[in-house]
Amino acid sequence: MIMERVLTLVSLCVLSTWAEIPDVKNVTVIGRTDTTLTFEWKVENRSYSYILETIDNKVSINASEAYYLNHIVSGLSPGTNYSFTLYTVFGGNTSKGFYFSDVTAPPNVDLVSVINRKEYMITLQWSNFKNRSDYSYKLKYRNEENVSIPISQTDTVEYNVTSLDAGTEYFFTLYTVFGSVMSSGYNFTNVTMPSNVQNVKVRSNDTEMILQWDVVSNTSNNNYSYTLENRNEPPVNCGSQIVDGNKVICHISGLMPATNYSFTLYTEFADLRSTGFNFYNITTLSDITGVTVNRSQTELTISWNKLNNNDIYNYNLKSHREGSEKHFTGSVEGDVITHTYSSLTPGTEYSFTLFTVVNKALSRGYSFKNITTLYCTSFNWKVTNSSIEAEVNGSTHVIAQNSTGSHKKTPILIHNKVNLQDLYPGGHYTVSLFYELESQQLLQCSHNLTLAPNSVSHLRCEYHSGGYGLAVIWESPYGAVDVVQVDVNGQSVNQSRSLEKKLEINGLQVAQWYKVTALSFSGAMRSQTVSVNCQTNPAGVIAGVLVFLLLVIIICVAVFAWRRYGSAKRNKMPYPLVESRVSNKNYKPIPLDKFPGHYQNMSRDENRGFSEEYEDLSSVGIEQSSIAALLPENQDKNRFSNVLAYDSSRVHLTTKDEGDSDYINANYMPGYGNASRQYIAAQGPLPSTVNDFWRMVWEKRSQAIVMVTNCTESGKVKCEQYWPLDYTPCLYGNLLVTVKLEDKFPNWTLREFIIKNKETSETRTVRHFHFTAWPDHGVPAGTEELIQFRGLIRQHIESSYSAGPTTVHCSAGVGRTGTLIALDVLLQQLHKEKAVGIAAFVQQMRLCRPLMVQTESQYVFLHQCIMDSLQPKTGPKSEPLYDNSDMIYVNTIALKEYNNQSQI
Ligand SMILES: *[C@@H]1O[C@H](CO)[C@@H](O)[C@H](O)[C@H]1NC(C)=O
Ligand SMILES: *[C@@H]1O[C@H](CO)[C@@H](O)[C@H](O)[C@H]1NC(C)=O
Ligand SMILES: *[C@@H]1O[C@H](CO)[C@@H](O)[C@H](O)[C@H]1NC(C)=O
Ligand SMILES: *[C@@H]1O[C@H](CO)[C@@H](O)[C@H](O)[C@H]1NC(C)=O
Ligand SMILES: *[C@@H]1O[C@H](CO)[C@@H](O)[C@H](O)[C@H]1NC(C)=O
Ligand SMILES: *[C@@H]1O[C@H](CO)[C@@H](O)[C@H](O)[C@H]1NC(C)=O
Ligand SMILES: *[C@@H]1O[C@H](CO)[C@@H](O)[C@H](O)[C@H]1NC(C)=O
Ligand SMILES: *[C@@H]1O[C@H](CO)[C@@H](O)[C@H](O)[C@H]1NC(C)=O
Repeated sequence: MIMERVLTLVSLCVLSTWAEIPDVKNVTVIGRTDTTLTFEWKVENRSYSYILETIDNKVSINASEAYYLNHIVSGLSPGTNYSFTLYTVFGGNTSKGFYFSDVTAPPNVDLVSVINRKEYMITLQWSNFKNRSDYSYKLKYRNEENVSIPISQTDTVEYNVTSLDAGTEYFFTLYTVFGSVMSSGYNFTNVTMPSNVQNVKVRSNDTEMILQWDVVSNTSNNNYSYTLENRNEPPVNCGSQIVDGNKVICHISGLMPATNYSFTLYTEFADLRSTGFNFYNITTLSDITGVTVNRSQTELTISWNKLNNNDIYNYNLKSHREGSEKHFTGSVEGDVITHTYSSLTPGTEYSFTLFTVVNKALSRGYSFKNITTLYCTSFNWKVTNSSIEAEVNGSTHVIAQNSTGSHKKTPILIHNKVNLQDLYPGGHYTVSLFYELESQQLLQCSHNLTLAPNSVSHLRCEYHSGGYGLAVIWESPYGAVDVVQVDVNGQSVNQSRSLEKKLEINGLQVAQWYKVTALSFSGAMRSQTVSVNCQTNPAGVIAGVLVFLLLVIIICVAVFAWRRYGSAKRNKMPYPLVESRVSNKNYKPIPLDKFPGHYQNMSRDENRGFSEEYEDLSSVGIEQSSIAALLPENQDKNRFSNVLAYDSSRVHLTTKDEGDSDYINANYMPGYGNASRQYIAAQGPLPSTVNDFWRMVWEKRSQAIVMVTNCTESGKVKCEQYWPLDYTPCLYGNLLVTVKLEDKFPNWTLREFIIKNKETSETRTVRHFHFTAWPDHGVPAGTEELIQFRGLIRQHIESSYSAGPTTVHCSAGVGRTGTLIALDVLLQQLHKEKAVGIAAFVQQMRLCRPLMVQTESQYVFLHQCIMDSLQPKTGPKSEPLYDNSDMIYVNTIALKEYNNQSQI
């Protein structure tokens, strides 16, 4: 080391003496600010020191051990070119000097103001270095490198940074540029304005709104906040926003109904908000829908709960019929608001509209109507034993229900008429009127009514108390009866036990005729009076009668018994008598006013008159031939060997093939007024003749089949069941028969058959009238049922004019069949001629078919039917009938029934 220094010094000494001192080869600027420059040069010899000379200054730099020397020149002016000379100094000698020059950096701008911020642009402004036209500026931000900003001569520079992203923070550096030198850079940050929201959706009701919009998207994924302002008073609060995925939901409550809200929704980022998205929406004004109406005859009380239990609502109630409008202030009313309209008309529809009102704004209005109820008692109720009628108003439906509820009728009212039929006689009914309003049945009023009971039937007497009294006996009628009151000779006795159908009356005279009347009661309602004349037992008196009278009586009884026996014998043997005594008696019709007398005469002495007359008819027509019936191929087609169809009047079936028989055991019967072929009297079909029977019905175009037998009676088959057992169609020959409907009643069943001819496809409807309460050879229990049944048939016949004959059959097709046909014809005659010719018509029938009206009792029954049909016209007076072996009794109901019918 020491050696080295010594060597250097030696060489320097050599140099300094022998050569000039060298300059530095090179000076490098290694640092530059706006006021300093830092130089560096290589030290050739560590013994050298240096002098740096500027224009006005000289600085000595001491020798250094380093290989390179640094020197900072400070206190310079920015942006200025400086010249320097560097001298090397050694041993008191100085080199010639190394000359170089360099510039200082320009200054940074003092301040950059952000004077405008938009979504895609920021406007910057700073003070210009006005006197330095050799300066310019460069801006650096994001990826943009040193955007040059043109030089201007203005005091300030304004620059629009464009194409930015909205709602984003930017970091800027602004440089001052001088020649190739830039200032250190002025750093600042700022933000662009965020975008407005999009897709604002509003759901509103009276007091609340739910707003929803999309989160405002941006490249930097900044989280923005949102502010909602109401452009009018009052302020609204959308503080609690819920961000749900990319949606923001805001719930505003406490709004006024029916109010227009104008909103601005801002997006906020840093200190900046978006321009604001404007929209408006109007809160709704709901209607009250739960309105309760309380009804009475003259008042309607309307009430409703306050809407949302909120006092801000007021209400207007408008009555359209009255044209009035009532106002209600929500804040002064209770929770339930009520208004009563009074002095209204019963049974009248009133309509109303209820509006909700807020700040003079009206809701659409809820319209409703209702009807005042009725005073049921104000109507004129007409009650009979089976019907209730009245003319009412303010009702559309009626329900009649008896106390057990088992009998209910609900017809619709036509022309405001209540018309309830087929009710239970004597029943207690509650009749309720309803009004149908908007498919609701509103009860208008209820009324309790008791029907008149039916009169008792079969009123008769038995001897009692040795002739000093009578036992009065009757049958309970159909329907309810509380009490039966029997009056005899001014005595009135009640029977309230319904099972006891008997009352004993004492204190009468022996062998006296008494008029016995009976009335039935249900509640306060009474039936029509029925009466019968009864005689007390005459036994006691007879003892005192003269002997010759006794003898006369004995003779009379003997004669009567003989005749009775004779006729009974003939009745029991209804074979055509061999004796060909043809009665050509010309029977005259009996005028109605003479009929009761005639009837009395005929029934005297145990129906002697009837017996005689009936017997006279027994031989009528029997001489006629029945050849077809007796042909070998036809013999099996007759149910009874003695009931054969006469050839002259028999029904011919049409034949197609050879060998087909045209025979059926059936004859045409005349009708009223000599109209021929009104009926076909036929035997009940046999298994082998069922198809023939249907063929006959089809070919003769019968539209009604009347059946006056049951298929089996007392275990004997009376008639083949010739129609389908159920609703499954059955084929009879070519005819397909379907039961379309079947209605069962106590005494009869009504059916409707559809018959289809398989060959022609023609279909027809045939009505089936099936009387089920008639014993063979006998007569029905009363005339009433059969007269009613006949009424149904007549009604049908008269409603189908173009029809063929009505087919009537029982078992043999003579007894019951004859009685029914005769009854139908005689009742027509009675109605039209005010006279009846019973014998004449039976005679006429017997000329067409044997044995028509087969027994004397049936013959008497026919008379009884006529009697019962007359009764009201001739008064209740009649001979006692209770001793008639065929048990026929006055039946006022049947008579009434007939009268009603004959008025139609
Ligand atoms: C001085 O040095 C700089 C960089 O170090 C170089 O560019 C320049 O040419 C040198 N000058 C001389 C005269 O050697
Ligand atoms: C952005 O510019 C505004 C307006 O000149 C200023 O008020 C705000 O402070 C600046 N923001 C920042 C982050 O410097
Ligand atoms: C900057 O932009 C605004 C509006 O976009 C314009 O009025 C203004 O002249 C622009 N300034 C400069 C310096 O271009
Ligand atoms: C300006 O920003 C740059 C880059 O971020 C940084 O290097 C420099 O030091 C900053 N200048 C000042 C004066 O802070
Ligand atoms: C209020 O918002 C609903 C639902 O978005 C919209 O259907 C209705 O048009 C808006 N009303 C107004 C007045 O903008
Ligand atoms: C309005 O709607 C909100 C939410 O759907 C519900 O909670 C509120 O009860 C409603 N208000 C009214 C007055 O209907
Ligand atoms: C009429 O009032 C009754 C209550 O009396 C009620 O049940 C019915 O719903 C009301 N009808 C209508 C159409 O409002
Ligand atoms: C109600 O009517 C039915 C007949 O439909 C009858 O059987 C019943 O006894 C009646 N009830 C009363 C309590 O009248």
